[in-house]
Amino acid sequence: MTQKVAVLGTGKIGEALLSGMIRAGWSKNDLMCTARRRERAEALRSRYGVEVVSNIEAAKAADTVILAVKPQDMALLLDELAPHLPADRLVISAAAGVPTAFFEEKLPAGTPVVRVMPNTPVLVDEGMSVISAGSHASETHLLRTEEIFKPVGKTLRVPESQQDAATALSGSGPAYFYYLVEAMTDAGILLGLPRDKAHDLIVQAAIGAAVMLRDSGEHPVKLREAVTSPAGTTISAIRELESHGVRAALIAALEAARDRSRELASGQA
Ligand SMILES: NC(=O)c1ccc[n+]([C@@H]2O[C@H](COP(=O)([O-])OP(=O)(O)OC[C@H]3O[C@@H](n4cnc5c(N)ncnc54)[C@H](OP(=O)(O)O)[C@@H]3O)[C@@H](O)[C@H]2O)c1
Repeated sequence: MTQKVAVLGTGKIGEALLSGMIRAGWSKNDLMCTARRRERAEALRSRYGVEVVSNIEAAKAADTVILAVKPQDMALLLDELAPHLPADRLVISAAAGVPTAFFEEKLPAGTPVVRVMPNTPVLVDEGMSVISAGSHASETHLLRTEEIFKPVGKTLRVPESQQDAATALSGSGPAYFYYLVEAMTDAGILLGLPRDKAHDLIVQAAIGAAVMLRDSGEHPVKLREAVTSPAGTTISAIRELESHGVRAALIAALEAARDRSRELASGQA
């Protein structure tokens, strides 16, 4: 059966999903999207050749609607959609920290809702999208959601109670690596390297390490031991990381991110 999919609020994340679905072979006739501004609508129409419609038209016509507006714009969008959205439509939310109960309360009774927390590497097809079912979402709805998010990276299912932890690790995760690259580039400058060369060295080390982590199947400790020779350079650096409490700092940092995600989900500014 043909399934029509609409992206509502086609900004950075919405556009990444739309282009991913097109690359994965969805027919453009089965895709539609919405935008708030006319120039944005024109840009999407000419870039992807898909129909750009109003939110209400999308709610009436699509079997699956992906809500990709900012969390603070969600209540207004749901108020607009609710009177027009049949209760058998799958609603997928990509909004950070908004619980499925929020959608279930505002949409017709029984509407299946799936919550997804993507991260920015979806923009380069290396994202991680963490998926949780709302109370009316079935296995079929989860499979449908995975089909939509797989073209832009990996997907992982977790119970909704673990979404705040997943947000701390995966949603914010890329930022920690950028922070490390920034700090290590500064170190390169201290050691006398020009900034661009220091940057290239660290970025390539990060890419190489990431690919080895993903493709070797080895535990990170094994991979690190392989570059840590007796009385060598790496162990001198590791001793400094340990004595400055970097491991403990990372644990505390991710705990703080998890706590903040909980606060935001409960509506605290
Ligand atoms: N970017 C991330 O790292 C990331 C990661 C995980 C989850 N998310 C979630 O993904 C969602 C989208 O984030 P984003 O970074 O893609 O934001 P974005 O680029 O601002 O995209 C949101 C788009 O929605 C449009 N919009 C707002 N209200 C609308 C309405 N009523 N009707 C139609 N279009 C509307 C906005 O229009 P204007 O252009 O006029 O503002 C904008 O183009 C957010 O809920 C965010 O929490 C983002």
